[in-house]
Amino acid sequence: MNTPLLLTREPATEAQSLADYRKEGGYAGFSSLDQVSPAQILEELEASKLRGRGGAAFPAARKWKLAQQAEATVKYTVANGGEHEPGSHKDRHLVQYYPHRVLEGMLWCGYATGAKVGYLYLIEDMAAPIAAAERAIEEATEAGLLCTALGNGFEFEIKIHRAPTTYVAGEETAALDSIEGGPGKPREKPPYPGEAGLFGQPTTVNNVETLAHVAWIRHHGAPAFAAIGTEESTGTMLFTLGKEVNRPGVYEMPFGTTYRQLLEDCGGGVRGEKAVRAVLPALSCRFLSADQLDTPIAYETMKSLGTSPGCGGVHVIVEGQDVMEKVASIADFFMKEQCGQCPPCRMETNQFAHILKGVRDGKRGDFSGQLEKIARFTAGKGRCSLIEMAAAPVLSAAEVFRSDFEACATEAAEPE
Ligand SMILES: Cc1cc2nc3c(=O)[nH]c(=O)nc-3n(C[C@H](O)[C@H](O)[C@H](O)COP(=O)(O)O)c2cc1C
Ligand code: SF4
Repeated sequence: MNTPLLLTREPATEAQSLADYRKEGGYAGFSSLDQVSPAQILEELEASKLRGRGGAAFPAARKWKLAQQAEATVKYTVANGGEHEPGSHKDRHLVQYYPHRVLEGMLWCGYATGAKVGYLYLIEDMAAPIAAAERAIEEATEAGLLCTALGNGFEFEIKIHRAPTTYVAGEETAALDSIEGGPGKPREKPPYPGEAGLFGQPTTVNNVETLAHVAWIRHHGAPAFAAIGTEESTGTMLFTLGKEVNRPGVYEMPFGTTYRQLLEDCGGGVRGEKAVRAVLPALSCRFLSADQLDTPIAYETMKSLGTSPGCGGVHVIVEGQDVMEKVASIADFFMKEQCGQCPPCRMETNQFAHILKGVRDGKRGDFSGQLEKIARFTAGKGRCSLIEMAAAPVLSAAEVFRSDFEACATEAAEPE
């Protein structure tokens, strides 16, 4: 990709200052706020077809519309940077090096939806992103962008919330619970945050990357954003590549890029030139096999394969790797991170881990059938979608790595 939308200063070594961000057009729209109405912002967002980058790919405009139409005098905006998924670093990268993009997106969300307070939700152990965000809030406040009337009577304040270091605390209602002083566990839905969220008031929760894209759309317009990517997946997406490639890091690519291009062009190829056996688009997604590496990364194409780009924290399975160890570690992760509120989720994640241990111990049986049966029984029975997220990688692993599952039983049966 020639021109990044968000990662404009790579390799980034320090947080972008307000002065540098302004040189890129940052916050320009707030000096003439009375010339743009909240309804116009919403129209623009709709035309951009921006979808949430937190994993669920929900259309941003639909969420904002709900909050905009809600009749309440107090509303909130939450920027979700509670990134705790193994293999994903893009949110902390964005907040640490480009904090003003996120703050500007929050301001636009506040203006469009009628919120006066925004929470930037970060994990308590993210020292560098928290420091960068604190500094950026200071700069924006000193510059009269925060806590000052900007036009049309709009005044906005941003607070940082330090969330617990658990995976489930990144779920949107868990985030609200944590901000309210609770343990950070998901709540029953409905009501959805847009109806009754933080302190019972309409709340718009967006991933920090989604909000950074909003700022870009405001600077460049919806047609320019929609012209990038594919018909249904517009703009760019941030991906994290891990130590399986020669150049691990956070990369920005337009939708329509293939995983092969991502690994080769961005990652510099797989370490040791090993052959790729499969790719996991993000921990909570279904595996793609090696013959699917040329699939364009887009919500529509990946949906047809039963998977999604998720939050873009890519895992690569290479030739010679202990696949069963990897799949078992994923199952263990979900078993440990589920929050214990829903018996079906506890049962499912424990059973998955138990079955996979059995496979690795050389037990025989229809493991794929057992895993499927459990997932069918538990689907939709959790307060949050972790119950489905935990099933996706494990079920698909039993298909994509069938020979590895079978080899465990064969090896165990063979005499020494
Ligand atoms: C277990 C679990 C963990 C999640 N963790 C995060 C997270 O760390 N960051 C995030 O933005 N969304 C996370 N989500 C998704 C959020 O619930 C929500 O969909 C998202 O913040 C909405 O923002 P978006 O529409 O901009 O994507 C998680 C969901 C679940 C079920
Ligand atoms: S589905 Fe699992 S992680 Fe989600 S609330 Fe229920 S027990 Fe917790």
